[in-house]
This record gives sequence, structure tokens and C-alpha cells, in this order.
Amino acid sequence: MPRNPAELIVDPATAAYYAEHAAEVALRYEQAASPFAGYFATAFPAGSRVLDVGCGSGRDLAALRAAGLEACGVEPVDALRAQALRLHPELEGHIAAGALPGLGEPFGGGFDGVLCSAVLMHLPQTELFDAAFALRAVLRPHGRLLLSIPLTRGDPLQQDRDVGGRLFTPLVPEALQRLFERIGLQLIGRWDTDDALQRQGTRWSTLLFELRATGALRAADQIEGMLNRDRRMRVAGAATRCAFALR
Ligand SMILES: C[S@@+](CC[C@H](N)C(=O)[O-])C[C@H]1O[C@@H](n2cnc3c(N)ncnc32)[C@H](O)[C@@H]1O
Repeated sequence: MPRNPAELIVDPATAAYYAEHAAEVALRYEQAASPFAGYFATAFPAGSRVLDVGCGSGRDLAALRAAGLEACGVEPVDALRAQALRLHPELEGHIAAGALPGLGEPFGGGFDGVLCSAVLMHLPQTELFDAAFALRAVLRPHGRLLLSIPLTRGDPLQQDRDVGGRLFTPLVPEALQRLFERIGLQLIGRWDTDDALQRQGTRWSTLLFELRATGALRAADQIEGMLNRDRRMRVAGAATRCAFALR
């Protein structure tokens, strides 16, 4: 499957939910101060160039810039990018379309820090390896990755989807830690907290990694990446053949 930044491969039902509810979602996120702003100083030293992946309403991006960091963000949903610019006009020129896993090199790549808050659960399991790889690829040596994932959710899910249809792939911090460590990122901090929007039963895990190994990856990891791509191509091929057979 060809992958480039212009071709945003996002779970369709998740993207549709955010597109339809952009104004309401943005308002909700802006109600609470950034739950991750408390970690910015620890994660990103002064002067860092930081990329916010899946920047949503622009709340964290605005906070990063207000803290004096040279921050920019990518967000796949047009309506959310529009909301971010409406709520934070100072972000003009610092937000672009972009999505995991086909992140590419937004704003030229080479970041000292990456923030990826409450995004990875919207990717199918099969995309996680490539997504981790894409996050690593935009970091400079010793760059930092601050990411948050839901530990528990208060609302019932049906086949990993909420009532709005958004995908919530179950993620386990220890498994993510192993995945990132295999590609050269070392866990240097972890904080488990309640939900900033006070949703009952929802808790978050925030993980901080540092890119330690920048050399060649283990052969096994390269093979796994190739197998993932191969598996996706076979699924896409079968879907295309089905579509033609049904015509
Ligand atoms: C729960 S919101 C979090 C927004 C923001 N990061 C925050 O913490 O407030 C999830 C965000 O992930 C974005 N998203 C969904 N799938 C994505 C993907 N494959 N790549 C990047 N962002 C994605 C959504 O459009 C949405 O902005």
C-alpha cells in the first residue's frame, strides 16, 4: 500500500466522528487545562522543536508554543484543524494535515520532541508497529517522545468501538514499552492519572521515551515491518478482488 503524507489513512469511522463533532469535541478538550502540560518541562528542554501528532483542538500545541517551544502539529481531520485555528489563531502556519502511520517528515522532520496524546488507541493493532516506527523517524538522536493512552475507559465498548463509532484499540503500557524499546526508544518516565475531564472510570497512562539507539534496527524488527506491510497488501488485494466480484 503506498504511503505518503498526502494520503491520510485514518480509521474511517473515527475520522467521521471527529469531522461531524469537531466543534463540540474541541470545546470539550478546551474546557480543561492541558492534562499533559505538567510534563512538558520534564519532557522537552527549553529551545526544543516539538511536533504534536494528532493535535486535535490545538490545546497542547498552543500550550507548547506559549511555553516558548518551537512547536508545530499535524492533524488528519480538516474540521478539527479548522477548530484549532479558530480557537488559537496564533497557530496559523504551524498546523498541517498528517496522520499515523504515514507521517512522513512534516515540517522537515528532525524534532527534539514529539507529543502524541490520546491518539494511538485510534489505530488498528496492525498499524501500531509502523506508527511507532514513524514516530521514531521524526526524532533526532536523544529526542523525546511523550505519549498518552487510555488505561481504562468508563464507557462500554462494542468490538473496541464507542457509541460514536470511534476505534479504541486496547493498549497495554508494558506492551507499548516493549514495542518502542525494540526500535531504540528507552522508557524514562511513566505517570498513571485520572481523567482530566473527570469521566468516571477513565484513566490515562502517560509514557516518556528517549531515542537512544539510532543505528540499524535488529533484522527481526525490519522483517516484522515488512510482514506487516505484506499482510496489509494481501488484505487490500482481497478487498479489491471482492469489490470487483460484487460489481
Ligand atoms: C482524543 S483526540 C486527542 C486530541 C489531542 N491530541 C488531545 O490530547 O487533546 C484524538 C485525536 O487523534 C486524531 N487521530 C485519529 N486517528 C489518527 C491518526 N491515524 N493519526 C493521527 N491522528 C489521528 C483525531 O483526529 C483526534 O484529533
